[in-house]
Amino acid sequence: MSDRAEALRTDVRSGFSAAQKWLPAKWFYDARGSALFEDITRLPEYYPTRAERETLAREAGEIARVTGASTLVELGSGSSEKTRLLLDGLRAHGTLRTFVPLDVSASALDEAVAAIRADYPGLEVHGVVGDFTEDLGLLPGEPPRLVAFLGGTIGNFLPAERIKFLRSVRAVLAEGEWLLLGTDLVKDPETLVRAYDDAAGVTAEFNRNMLRVVNDLLGADFDPGGFAHEAYWDAEREWIEMRLRATEETTVHIPGAGMTVHFAEGEYIRTEISAKFRAGGVAAELAESGFAVERWWTDAERRFGVSLSRAVREG
Ligand code: AVJ
Repeated sequence: MSDRAEALRTDVRSGFSAAQKWLPAKWFYDARGSALFEDITRLPEYYPTRAERETLAREAGEIARVTGASTLVELGSGSSEKTRLLLDGLRAHGTLRTFVPLDVSASALDEAVAAIRADYPGLEVHGVVGDFTEDLGLLPGEPPRLVAFLGGTIGNFLPAERIKFLRSVRAVLAEGEWLLLGTDLVKDPETLVRAYDDAAGVTAEFNRNMLRVVNDLLGADFDPGGFAHEAYWDAEREWIEMRLRATEETTVHIPGAGMTVHFAEGEYIRTEISAKFRAGGVAAELAESGFAVERWWTDAERRFGVSLSRAVREG
């Protein structure tokens, strides 16, 4: 069994024995899931990518001036499209030598590395296939390093995991190094729900892709068509929950996890939380983790926040 299948087996065994069945959002991203996410970023309803890009395009030069970074590390880099704005800003400033994209999807990473190498001659590119919740230990590149965690992916963590994650980033940095963090902001529920339940049904396919990943890696017999996509706004916790709801009673065999799982009609799997933030909350969580926010920007419509923080005392 591959390492990836082993890791999924562990998550399936614990997630499907919980009272509320769930799986971690990282299991969306095989080659097909990464391609579907790229499609999502172009949907009219999915504003976060465009809103964040607007800010990065405006502030890339300022980010380069403030940080003077030699190394750009991008966590969960995907296609690295927005990264180019940062690379351009840092290169124009003259300090950048190394780019380190880290992604769970080997296919998405390989494409990104090849494209960046072709377009940025002289830049040292170290692609790392890995899980940023586990593989932060050995970040190559010389200081000062700028770690970018964009797209609002930090919202996929539960609040307690968020602090743990930010502390683990802080732990691999020296004092004075940098974190650029993208956070989607709380806004009216209609806009939020539409962003996660688009009219063309791309997000629904992306959501169901997780069942295909379980089928592929663990030999399971999920019928993805038997699960309905839902996006639910939890107003108390201020997060979007993505769910896959069984439209009829079904039994699923998962040989690679040694499990047979029963779903009642209407029972759902939680596949993702996507937390939405407020400026004060972001600054507080960063401070708790050993970072000081030096800049805070949003797009003109204040839909998405980008913070630039400096590593201070140990978090
Ligand atoms: C890549 C985690 C930022 O939470 O908005 C898009 C993933 N899920 N549509 C997000 C996603 C459903 C996305 N992140």
